[in-house]
Amino acid sequence: MKFDRPETTNPIDNLTVVGRPTRRIDGELKTTGRANYAYEHWDLGFDVAYGYPVAAGIAKGRILSIDSESARQAPGVLAVVTTLDVGEHEKGDHNTATLFGGDVVQHYHQAIALVVAETFEQARAAASLIDVSYEREEGSFDLAEAIKTAEKPSEDEKSDTAFGDFDDAYARASVTLDADYSTPDQSHAAMEPHASMAVWDGDELKIWTSSQMIDWWRTDLATFLGMDKDKIRLMSPFIGGGFGGKLFLRADAVLAALGAKAARCAVKVSLPRPLIMNNTTHRPATIQRIRIGADTDGKIEAIAHQSWSGNLPEGSLETAVNQTRLLYAGENRMTAMRLASLDLPEGNAMRAPGEAPGLMALEIAMDEMAEKLGIDPIDFRVINDTQVDPENPDRPFSKRDLIGCLRLGAERFGWSDRGQPGARRDGNWLVGTGVAAAYRDNLLVDSGARVRLESDGRITVETDMTDIGTGSYTIIAQTAAEMMGVTVEDVDVRLGDSSFPVSAGSGGQFGANCSTAGVYAACVELREAVIQKLGLNAQDVRFEGGQVRSGNHAIPLSDAAGPDGLVGEDTIEWGDLSKTHQQSTFGAHFVEVGVDVVTGECRIRRMLAVCAAGRILNPITARSQVIGAMTMGIGAALSEELFVDTKKGFFVNHDLAGYEVPVHADIPSQEVIFLDETDPMSSPMKAKGVGELGLCGVSAAIANAIYNATGARVRDYPVTLDKLI
Ligand code: MOS
Repeated sequence: MKFDRPETTNPIDNLTVVGRPTRRIDGELKTTGRANYAYEHWDLGFDVAYGYPVAAGIAKGRILSIDSESARQAPGVLAVVTTLDVGEHEKGDHNTATLFGGDVVQHYHQAIALVVAETFEQARAAASLIDVSYEREEGSFDLAEAIKTAEKPSEDEKSDTAFGDFDDAYARASVTLDADYSTPDQSHAAMEPHASMAVWDGDELKIWTSSQMIDWWRTDLATFLGMDKDKIRLMSPFIGGGFGGKLFLRADAVLAALGAKAARCAVKVSLPRPLIMNNTTHRPATIQRIRIGADTDGKIEAIAHQSWSGNLPEGSLETAVNQTRLLYAGENRMTAMRLASLDLPEGNAMRAPGEAPGLMALEIAMDEMAEKLGIDPIDFRVINDTQVDPENPDRPFSKRDLIGCLRLGAERFGWSDRGQPGARRDGNWLVGTGVAAAYRDNLLVDSGARVRLESDGRITVETDMTDIGTGSYTIIAQTAAEMMGVTVEDVDVRLGDSSFPVSAGSGGQFGANCSTAGVYAACVELREAVIQKLGLNAQDVRFEGGQVRSGNHAIPLSDAAGPDGLVGEDTIEWGDLSKTHQQSTFGAHFVEVGVDVVTGECRIRRMLAVCAAGRILNPITARSQVIGAMTMGIGAALSEELFVDTKKGFFVNHDLAGYEVPVHADIPSQEVIFLDETDPMSSPMKAKGVGELGLCGVSAAIANAIYNATGARVRDYPVTLDKLI
């Protein structure tokens, strides 16, 4: 089904199941430990050996030799695979850094060997016996240094934009701001480590892994192994968090496949926690400069946002200026991004890549500017709202209610109680409130599904869509139930298997809207098949209460199915609506903090997010997405930072003891309000993404609240107490 004009009404609008608070249909499996994650398939009926990875101890250079003799002789060892044995392998489409193979070390903790043994302990013990000699090379590890030679990336990347005459307008503006901001490298730090289990049957490979994008992984694994992708079955039915760290094929999958081949048995490999942060990808650090010029009424006349980030050669930019192209009006504007060459691990997408670090800077700048103008920060944002793409005024937003989010949030949060910086005190705590706008693109990715009406009248949905903890199982069941006129309990959802139709996958907050739209399309086909089989008049058919109703007829779905059942399969494809209309999601974050007047310790006291993100398919799972994202924003604001050893070239704090993410005790009252909104341009579901929106802007709202509490303006994240006192 091609979606190329705004949707009028369709069966989803009945909202008998969709849009209702619905508990996770996979919740019981998860809470009772019966949801098997990649490392946990105990019930397959064959023995599984354990692979333990060995990772490079240098950041850049060559491997001269790997002595694996004593490892091979160690108790229980079945096989050793080294990067020198397998030689160079072709990379798939999505990875920059080498996952495995060859003698070149591109980054610290790159995988260089795998030991397979009968037990985990034997594999780990033998892995410690492997002796590697290297030829170390100098590398570039310091972003602040490397940006001096940063370059404009290749032409096809939209790294620079310019409209009007920024320099002139900025020079003429009555009130100006010119400030630098920085955000550190961050790690996804998903609860479930990267893990895979592989088994060969002749030349066919079965692999269970932890992947956000089944088809990307399967395709890239086939490329790496030099085999036909049809001979790989890749499965990720349950995933313990991804955040972008599991978008692209990872070393554990490659190692499990190679280890299983070498050991001639099933092999599972989990990346040990201390390897994850250097072996996988991370959100790249940024250095950003923002200039804003406004007239005395607060109207922005000139706005410029520049960002520098680093990556391995051929790596990509952190697109931190993206939201600045779309969020506020201003006739004279420019954005530019430059990429420095670094020899750190590969930088890549982490939850709301671009907007998350970009808003960390922009929304502090807006707060600073409002203060200079003597205008309330909410009013300043409202004054500069735009209903069209500021870089292309012929292109309206499909839906944009940033003002509604700000105004409603202000009222509910008690914004009017806010005082001057340093004015409010509660015992030892200086108390402050802050606000930030939230903005994230609504991306559209084709998505397929197969829906079957079983002979007993139940519905089965199959799609390779993943559920990374987001609630995909549940919203997909709701969609099929709404379309087929049954209850959620009547629907079986099967996800994360490459033998099912290719879906959008989980990424870029597009998963919910796109995958349910794919299920919608498949259900349209299935409804058609039912109508045809029953010879009904399509015009007056209703699917309700487990029946097909038409005129005086009310036929149970089980009768319609017949003994063999009926199948509908389709893929939603997207037309030009996202080109003619800018599709984005909006919100406002409000935060109250307390800062200890003696120690500078900062505590979050209250948070509120107001989101305008199209139809909310399930208020329970959507709320969970947003409060999880707000929690991530606390980490980004206050504690999360990968410390770079700029001499040796690696992230020093590479485990959860040193890389500090928020824990429950850090999380106070969190409220989420969804504006009642539908967006007929976004999909037949009229929904949009929301999972990343919840993060966008949070950290700046916290930094702004800290400023309001203390009068200390910190532009360098995380805002730790050493920067406050
Ligand atoms: Mo998201 S960073 O696209 O998983």
